[in-house]
Amino acid sequence: GTPASKSDRMVTLTIDGKVVTVPEGTSIMRAAREAGIEVPKLCANDMMKAYGSCRLCLIEIEGRNGTPASCTTPVAEGIKVATQTDRLGSIRRGVMELYMSDHPADCPACAEGDCDMVEMAAKVGLTENRYGPNGENHVAPLLHGDTNPHFREQDLSNPYFAYDPAKCIVCSLCVRACGEVQGTFALTVEGRGFESRIAASMDDPFLESECVSCGACVQACPTGALREKTVIEKGMPEWSAVTTCAYCGVGCTFKAE
Ligand code: FES
Repeated sequence: GTPASKSDRMVTLTIDGKVVTVPEGTSIMRAAREAGIEVPKLCANDMMKAYGSCRLCLIEIEGRNGTPASCTTPVAEGIKVATQTDRLGSIRRGVMELYMSDHPADCPACAEGDCDMVEMAAKVGLTENRYGPNGENHVAPLLHGDTNPHFREQDLSNPYFAYDPAKCIVCSLCVRACGEVQGTFALTVEGRGFESRIAASMDDPFLESECVSCGACVQACPTGALREKTVIEKGMPEWSAVTTCAYCGVGCTFKAE
């Protein structure tokens, strides 16, 4: 969801017919979860401020126009929210279809079931892609040709993880994890629109940037764009344990091979 609100004032609203009372300032996404309703999402989590970039978590509010993002829209007294209408289903499938059409189909993260994006595509009921995998019929590669910014070379400079821009959906979770969780601010979003992409410091390779290799970005990435090298080489571990020390608070993961 999104971070908890600390307000003492409570607000009551209805979501998919369920009445829920939450602190003022809570996002509709978080309130929905309190009511046992999971709204599809790719760019929100409990640790970081909502950003509203993936457009999967859209909802409808009775009497209001449009379909606002539930992660960035706060609750309001007495509103009636719908999270699962036909219109929302169709918008979400359309959004996922565009993501998947500009995404490599041969990603090991998909094969290992380690990709939130593929999970969400299934969750919203996307069963076919009119544009083809790898953007075959997608308008963007036709416009951009070989200069499609999403198909740049991988950055393998860091000894612990790899960054593959082709798999990035620019949700900014890695940028926010780096800044908000770790306090390092090594990552930024460069460019605008279809040209936007993640860059380390002044467009340096990860190893030469301000990156301290804490792994917060890798943990946050909802696709296979940022992956640990051991996972790439050896596959997903059978089990893992997360421990957190006072040094950075990120939580390092120890894995069985
Ligand atoms: Fe709300 Fe991505 S989760 S826009």
